[in-house]
This record gives sequence, C-alpha cells and structure tokens, in this order.
Amino acid sequence: MTLSSSIPTHSNPESRRYFLRTYGCQMNERDSEAVACLLEAQGLLPAASEEEADVLLYNTCSVRDQAERKVLGKLGLLKKLAQRKPGLVIAVFGCMAQRLGQELAAAFPHVQLVVGTDQIHRLPELLRAPAAAAPQRVAVDRGVDGLEFMGLHHPGRVSAYIAIMRGCDQHCTYCVVPEVRGPERSRPPADIVAETARLATDGTREVFLLGQNVTAYGLAEARRQPGYDRNASPFGDLLRAVAAVPGIARVRFTSPHPRHMNAAFVAAVAETPQICDSFHIPMQSGADRILELMHRGYTAAEYLDRIAALRQARPAATFSTDIIVGFPGETEAEFALTRAAMDTAGFDHAFIFRYSPRPGTRAAAMTDDVPDDVKMARLKLLLDDLKKRAERHNRAYVGRSVEVLVEGVSARNAERWCGRTSCNKVGVFTPPPGCQPGTLLTLRISRTTAQTLFGVAESAGSP
Ligand code: SAH
Ligand code: SF4
Ligand code: F3S
Repeated sequence: MTLSSSIPTHSNPESRRYFLRTYGCQMNERDSEAVACLLEAQGLLPAASEEEADVLLYNTCSVRDQAERKVLGKLGLLKKLAQRKPGLVIAVFGCMAQRLGQELAAAFPHVQLVVGTDQIHRLPELLRAPAAAAPQRVAVDRGVDGLEFMGLHHPGRVSAYIAIMRGCDQHCTYCVVPEVRGPERSRPPADIVAETARLATDGTREVFLLGQNVTAYGLAEARRQPGYDRNASPFGDLLRAVAAVPGIARVRFTSPHPRHMNAAFVAAVAETPQICDSFHIPMQSGADRILELMHRGYTAAEYLDRIAALRQARPAATFSTDIIVGFPGETEAEFALTRAAMDTAGFDHAFIFRYSPRPGTRAAAMTDDVPDDVKMARLKLLLDDLKKRAERHNRAYVGRSVEVLVEGVSARNAERWCGRTSCNKVGVFTPPPGCQPGTLLTLRISRTTAQTLFGVAESAGSP
C-alpha cells in the first residue's frame, strides 16, 4: 500500500457532506453563503460534487419562467440519485420554495425539505429532524425572527456581499419578488456597520451592499417614527457609515430604485470617495406608457435626470441597468424609445430580459402579446448596441492608467491575474513580484475588448 492511498481523503470521514447550488440573484448568493456557514457550524463539510454529498441544497429563483424551469429540470434528474442513495437528503429553499411550497413537495416526493425565504435560518434544525417522523416538510411561514444568520461570512474574501434588507414593497406589475421575498425589512445600521468591521478585520477591502431596492433602505421603519423627514436618506447615511469603517477601500451597492434617489442620497455619493464609480440602476423601459404600466413610478426623462445628477456628483461614473423587452403591448415605437434612452444614458453594461409572465402578478392579467421571436430580435438589437458602446468606451482606456483592486488569478488564464476598476471593469495583467489579492494596483492599459482591459502593472501595489 502506498503512503498516499492510506491518507483519508476526508479530514473527518464521519462528517456529513453538503452540496449547495444557487440560482438567481446576488441576494441568493449571499443567503447561500450564510447557509453554508450555518451548516459548517453544525459540523457539515462542503462536498466537491452532488455525487459525494449526503445533503443536497438548492437555493432557487422564481423571477422568470426559465429560472424555475432550470430548477424543475434539476429536481427531476435527482430522482435517480435519490433512489441509488437511500440516506440522501434533498432540500429546496429560497424564492421558488416560497412560491410553490406544497406543490413542489407533491411533484418531487424525493425532496424532503421545502424551505421558504423567511425560514432559511431554520435549515440546520430542519435537517436534523428525523426523516421517519415526516418524510417531507414544507416551511414557508412569513415574518419570523432569526435574520441574524444574514451576518455570517466565510472570512478572507477581498470583496464581500452584505445584505442590508430583505423583501420589496414596490410591486412592479411584472415582478414576483414582493410575493416571494415579502415586505421590505431593513437591518439596523449598527448591525451592518459591525458586520463591515468584522469583514475588514478579516481582510475584506470591498463591500457590496445588497437589497431589492437599496435606496428604500430604512424608509419603511423611518415612516413609522414621529417627525419623519422625507428629505433624509437612511441609505445615504448608511453608505457614509460603512465607508468610514477602517480598512474598507471600496463600497458598491445594488439595486437602487430611481424613485428613492433623492438629493441626500446623491450628496452621500458625492461626498464619499470610497463609493465606486459604477452604478447599476434598473431602467426597465424608455417608454413612459410602458413604465406606467409597469408601475415603476418615474418617466424616462426623470430616470435620465437621476443619472445626470450622479454624473455631476461623479464625473467618472459609469452606468449599467436592467431592461425588459416585450412587456405586454410594447410597440416598435416604444421599443425604439428604450433603445434611444439606453444610448442617452450611455450604459456600458445591461441585463436584458424577455418579458416572462409570472403567475399572480398584475401584468399576468395583461395579454402577453409580443411574440417570442420579436422579443428575441429586440433583445439582440440591444445587446449589439451595448457591445459596440462598451468597445468604444473601453478603447478610450488605451494608454491610460487605472487602479484595480487585485482579486487573484484570472479564471481564463492561470498566468494572469485580474482585478476590478472602480468603474467595475475587469483589468487583466501579469502579476508583479509579491502581488497580493486585496491590494490596489495601477495598470497602464495596452489593449481592450468589450469586456476586459489588458494592462501592465505600474506600481507595486499599496495595501
Ligand atoms: N429589485 C431589482 C431587480 C430585481 S429582479 C430592481 O428592481 O432594481 C432583476 C430584474 O429581473 C429586474 O430588474 C427586471 O429587469 C427583471 N425581471 C423581473 N421580473 C421579470 C419578468 N417577469 N420578466 C422578465 N424580466 C423580469
Ligand atoms: Fe421587483 Fe420592482 Fe421590487 Fe425590483 S423594485 S424587486 S423589479 S417589484
Ligand atoms: Fe430570483 Fe428571488 Fe432573486 S426571485 S432574482 S432569487 S429575489
């Protein structure tokens, strides 16, 4: 027997192993990291694959039909694995678990746990419960406490997500998020600042504040107080407090709703240099009639005004957005308005979605009358515009120096490293001697594509 074959592959072969897969948005990514920390605190270890795991967990998304279909397909495929491995536990949690609950349990008898968005913190306890007592459990109650789990992190990441709130009160007519995530609830600023400080102590340099509508942070709570000041911006105050935490070099956030971007918020951006120069602000459409049908609460001109105000506060600002094409009744002329507004805003990046009717939303009662090939053609036009614009914007970087926050080895080429600029562009470079993740490094840009800036390190990097 060789020495290596006698070394156990698992540090503790008794430990149960979990495999966790995440669908959906950054909020789900954050919830999943917190869940992983919860499970590890119970002694579970991460598994390298589904095959090796004793517990499979899926954090799910309901925002579009396609997102749900991916998960349904996955759960169908797991039936065979469940038959081969009698002790295997399968848990589905997050937005789709919340929306479908019992229906999901009925469709997939090999799934033991269906856990909604407000019950995620109970996963360890539910996983410990003996299966014989209840072969399937569905936990989708709303509004319970226990959100402290939201502060758990794997330490040592250069850039970390912080969920500052849950839920959404906007009720855009196409959107299932308010139903699956519940009403807006903001965490106390002191908790968020303390979490930022813990992360900074563990080496994090950049924090990414997350919420479905971060510019509404604290508003639901503030409105309940006597003497509520409509001109204040609890989110602006939070940005200043988080940026002031020693060790934090950069602050980002997503997504702000244009409706709540008031002067106090813009002032906080203007006066807080740690806030990055890249802003993701969902526009959805450039046609006022469609914006109204979507219940977005702004006109295209008002949206562009908000961007202009931020540009004035931050001359180097770059913008990205979310767009829905083919909303019920969207005409060619209305689509052209969206295209023109995107040009005026000068977005470098955008997530463009084909409208997908979601059961129970107000838009689901409207006729989904834009044919899918038309939606596809509109989406493609916008993507082509974006690519050309991004190429043009990036070309202007050639010969210039930019600062990146070093992340580590590039995913595409192991000899190169990557980092991000304040404008959220990926910079790729050959690491100078002693280069460390988490340092700020100046690159001179020699070549660019629509996605990437390639450069040579100019400075040794400052910690
Ligand atoms: N809270 C964020 C976005 C949440 S969902 C915000 O409003 O700022 C992410 C994006 O998915 C939305 O911005 C929207 O563009 C898209 N989306 C939501 N519901 C959709 C639907 N029914 N069909 C297509 N796209 C949708
Ligand atoms: Fe959905 Fe609108 Fe809330 Fe965003 S702001 S999560 S699009 S309801
Ligand atoms: Fe999807 Fe839920 Fe996020 S529906 S987009 S995972 S909030």
